[in-house]
Amino acid sequence: MAKTVLITGASSGIGAATVKKFQAEGWNVAATMRTPEKHPELAQLDRVICPRLDVNDRASIESAIAQTIDHFGTIDVLINNAGYALLGPFEATDPEQIRKQFDTNVFGLMEASRAILPHFREKNAGILVNVASIGGKMAFPLYSSYHATKWAVEGFSEALQYELEEFNIRVKIIEPGPIKTDFYGRSEDVAQKEGLTAYDRIVAKVVPNLKKAGATGSPPEVTANVIYKAATDGSKKLRYPAGGNAGLLLLLRRLSRDKHWSTGIRAATMR
Ligand SMILES: NC(=O)c1ccc[n+]([C@@H]2O[C@H](COP(=O)([O-])OP(=O)(O)OC[C@H]3O[C@@H](n4cnc5c(N)ncnc54)[C@H](OP(=O)(O)O)[C@@H]3O)[C@@H](O)[C@H]2O)c1
Repeated sequence: MAKTVLITGASSGIGAATVKKFQAEGWNVAATMRTPEKHPELAQLDRVICPRLDVNDRASIESAIAQTIDHFGTIDVLINNAGYALLGPFEATDPEQIRKQFDTNVFGLMEASRAILPHFREKNAGILVNVASIGGKMAFPLYSSYHATKWAVEGFSEALQYELEEFNIRVKIIEPGPIKTDFYGRSEDVAQKEGLTAYDRIVAKVVPNLKKAGATGSPPEVTANVIYKAATDGSKKLRYPAGGNAGLLLLLRRLSRDKHWSTGIRAATMR
């Protein structure tokens, strides 16, 4: 019998590529998104439904899970992929922007995880895949709030694996490097404060380098393949680097002293 996956943030980028990967492998897919009416193409595929799900709306999470179980009979894998970045100097950031960043990247991911757990416990099986980032293990200038959210996803996921073990529920952390998606364009939130010009110089240096990393990043299909592997390899492995030289960057970060690493980050982003 075909297995079923529910994916959040499936309208574009990594989420949409992951829908296509699982579908092509014969899975049933709930490709959830905030505005399914704007993205009718995925629902044309066999065994794909597109329930509405905004991770900031708990009722929509519960309803999307219920619709998926109703339609396919079960959910085997939940992929918490929805997320975006707030970019800009911390001092220029409106507190509401930071709250929204955490609501989506952290609290939304937690809500979706909590909502699926009764179903997974009842089955005594399930895989929770959380899309973090290399940015949960290393930091770049002007992304302070975004990094704080991905650091949170790392800690949350690592701790959660222990308490879910006895229910045969596995947790997986996906750590993409730069991936060429709407992340660096449409999805980005920018922090700017009228009259605050003190950061103009650093913004002018760093932003083009970050955009270049995005523009030359791996295609989202690379990350989709890693997510598929994480969901199907049967291992207890926790972390999966995924594209954009993520594996190499994470290894170098682990092996480097802070002062050497920071020199490299300055050279790569602030030159
Ligand atoms: N691209 C990279 O370089 C990179 C690197 C590391 C990690 N990541 C992570 O990968 C994940 C996917 O990003 P992407 O690169 O594929 O970017 P993307 O193409 O911009 O996709 C982001 C997705 O998240 C959805 N989303 C945003 N807020 C949401 C909410 N409140 N509820 C439900 N869905 C919401 C967006 O939906 P709408 O269409 O409705 O806006 C969109 O489908 C994110 O968690 C991101 O942090 C990306």
